[in-house]
Amino acid sequence: MPKELVIHDHDGGIDDFLSLMLLLTMEDAQTLGVVVTPADCYIKPAVSVTRKMMDLMGHSDIPVGESTVRGLNPFPRVWRQTCFAVDHFPILNDKERIDTPLVQESGQQFMARLLREAPEPVTLLVTGPLTTVAAALDIAPEVEPKIGRIVWMGGALNVPGNVDPVMEPGQDGASEWNVYWDPPAAYQIWQSRIPIVLCPLDITNHVPVTSELVHQLGRQREYPLSEVAALCYALVMKQGGYFFWDVLTTAYIGRPDLYTVREWETVLVRDGISQGRTQIAPGGRKITALDTVDVPAFYAYILNQWAR
Ligand code: RIB
Ligand code: CA
Repeated sequence: MPKELVIHDHDGGIDDFLSLMLLLTMEDAQTLGVVVTPADCYIKPAVSVTRKMMDLMGHSDIPVGESTVRGLNPFPRVWRQTCFAVDHFPILNDKERIDTPLVQESGQQFMARLLREAPEPVTLLVTGPLTTVAAALDIAPEVEPKIGRIVWMGGALNVPGNVDPVMEPGQDGASEWNVYWDPPAAYQIWQSRIPIVLCPLDITNHVPVTSELVHQLGRQREYPLSEVAALCYALVMKQGGYFFWDVLTTAYIGRPDLYTVREWETVLVRDGISQGRTQIAPGGRKITALDTVDVPAFYAYILNQWAR
C-alpha cells in the first residue's frame, strides 16, 4: 500500500515535539517536511529541537522550515519557554553538528512548495495554529486541492475552552488556544473546501498525561525515544493538568481504528469576546471531529512506538 504523505506543522510545545516523534515512527506515513510555527515557543530553540530530534531518529533526510507568521493573541511566555530546556537535553546534544536541513525560504513558502511538488494530495497534520497554512494558501491558492485533509488539534465543541478569561481579559473562555492565537487564520480555513478532521478539547480532556504513564516511559528509558518523552513530560507535570492534545491528534494518523468520529456543522467565531470559538451551528461548515478513543489502547500504542 502507498504511504500517506504528511506535512507536520507544529508550534514548538512539548506535545508538539512528541507528536513529531510519534509521527516519525509510523511506517505507513511518509513525512515530506516539517514546519515550525512561532506560537507556543520561541522559534530558534523550537527549530533546533525539531532538527536534533530528527537527527536522533535517523530522519535527517527530511527538511525543516521556519515559519515567519505572527498571531494576534500570543501564548503565555512561561509556556513558550519550555523549548529552551528541551534544546539542552544531553541526549539531543551528543553531536556538535545538526544534520537535518533547515530550508532558506520561510516555512509558509516551504509548505506551499511541498504541496505544489507533491505527486498526490497530502495530509496536513497541524498541532498549532492554522496561520502558516493560511499564509501558504495566500502564497499559492492553487495548491488547495493538494491538501487531502487537515488533521488539526484545535477547538472546543461541547466543552469550555482553555483560554482562561482571567489571563485573557475580555474573553469568555469558550476558545481553545490554537484557534485563539489567530482566529482570522482559522476563519480563512473554515471558508475553504479542505476536509477538516478536528481533535478538540472534548476528546483530549479524557486523555491526561498521568504520572503513571510518565513513570512507565522512564522505566523503559533504555530506548532513546522513551527517554526523550519521559524528560519532556517531566518538565510539564508541575503545571497541574497536561493532556495528550497534539499526540492524540497525531496517533489518529497511525491508528484511526482506536477512535470513533462524528460529523458536526460549525461556525468559526472570528471576532469579539468569543473570538476563536468553534461553535456548533446547524447549516454551518461541516467538519469531522474525533469523538472517542480507546484510552488504554492509546497509552499502549505510544509506549510501544517509543520503545525504540
Ligand atoms: O490547547 C492545546 C494546544 O495548545 C496544544 O497544541 C498545545 O501544544 C498548546 O500549544
Ligand atoms: Ca501545539
